[in-house]
Amino acid sequence: MNKQEILDKQKKYLWPNHLLYYTEPLPLDHGDGMYVWDVEGHKYLDFFAGILTTSVGHNHPKVTQAVQEQAGKLLHSSTLYPNENHVKLAEKMAQITPGKLQTSYFTNSGTEADETAVMLAKCYTGYQEIIALRHGYSGRSPLGMSLTGQASWRIGGTHILGIKHAMNPYCYRCPLKMNPETCGAACAEDVEEVIKTSTSGRIAAFLAEPIQGVGGFVTPPKEYFKIVVEIVHNYGGLFICDEVQTGFGRTGDKWFGIEHWQVEPDIMTMAKGIANGLPMGNTITTEAIAQGMVGQGLTISTFGGNPLSTAASLATIEVMETEATPQHIGEVGGLLRAGLEKLQEKYPLVGDVRGMGLMQGVELVKDRQTKEPAPEAVVAVFEQTRARGLLIGKGGMYNNVLRIAPPLIATKEHVEEALNILDHAFAQVQELNL
Ligand SMILES: Cc1ncc(COP(=O)(O)O)c(C=O)c1O
Repeated sequence: MNKQEILDKQKKYLWPNHLLYYTEPLPLDHGDGMYVWDVEGHKYLDFFAGILTTSVGHNHPKVTQAVQEQAGKLLHSSTLYPNENHVKLAEKMAQITPGKLQTSYFTNSGTEADETAVMLAKCYTGYQEIIALRHGYSGRSPLGMSLTGQASWRIGGTHILGIKHAMNPYCYRCPLKMNPETCGAACAEDVEEVIKTSTSGRIAAFLAEPIQGVGGFVTPPKEYFKIVVEIVHNYGGLFICDEVQTGFGRTGDKWFGIEHWQVEPDIMTMAKGIANGLPMGNTITTEAIAQGMVGQGLTISTFGGNPLSTAASLATIEVMETEATPQHIGEVGGLLRAGLEKLQEKYPLVGDVRGMGLMQGVELVKDRQTKEPAPEAVVAVFEQTRARGLLIGKGGMYNNVLRIAPPLIATKEHVEEALNILDHAFAQVQELNL
């Protein structure tokens, strides 16, 4: 099919609310490593990795081989029958996750992973209420949308009661209008305030992302999670850490984002990059907490932990242990960050650069003093970068954040290529004064 045929059929046979990037949507055809090609043969350096999902690059030979071998062996059996890949991956997850996290429940997406975490927290604690963060994103199910802290992602209304949202640690736009250098993470105290004023006083859980992904890579100060987790435990709750975007090395130097804050989650969820693009979610917890589900009723995920996705995930981890290690991600991420900060010095439209490792956000503003968001500039940067062969992502409560998150195999040369294209794009867009 040519480009126009694909776009026509997209319009005719897919719901009109499908979100598509770019003024003229971009039908992709194939990928290899850091690059993808559209159906007309144009090549793009991929710095969004299918929403932080193609962890070790497109068609990584080890992942492809593992999937091909498994596809010829057993595609599906359901979790009613134990399977080697399933248990092997669970063992591996116990090894790479921090603290006492030990026992996994595999599903098919981040939404399901978060749903499973909340279900477990309620069963274990016997409490019902959940605290989430403003600007957070937790998925597209009724519970996922209710946990989400952005009205635009809550289609059809707020569905589930008993969820309250605390202030998020958005230092660039501090909700308390304090100075991030001296505030001592005062926003963390809001979690206690919300529990005391808006719940029954006992909560099942506090759910948060180490770095808010859809929220525009909002990165909490270093004291934040220690303060919050202590509060949450004092009120009977568990800390559910949503690593759907930050998981598997993305933040550099560590396997999981939360490790940078030196706290141990009670439950951790992950999805996106853990199987390099095959559908998979995981909810991992301690042996003691997992006992909370026993005797409470039945639950099953037909496709969860299926032999194909688990094969892909095992191969992805193998590549990350050798090629795209957390250390490599830390080093290349450091180069990316330094380059983006240089662009910030050069272009007034860059208000803030934040994030960790290969998860860097660039917030665009009309004016550095007023910090008025510049979503139109993001749209213009998108068109400019596409024209020069670079794919990036966007996000943020005000649609004004560029999300830069390449596959984790990115090298110094890839980063230089991307920075060069961004430099040209910013130069053009700065001129437009959007
Ligand atoms: C932090 C976070 N949690 C949960 C989800 C939901 O994941 P999925 O789209 O796989 O259901 C997302 C998706 O973007 C996410 O970023």
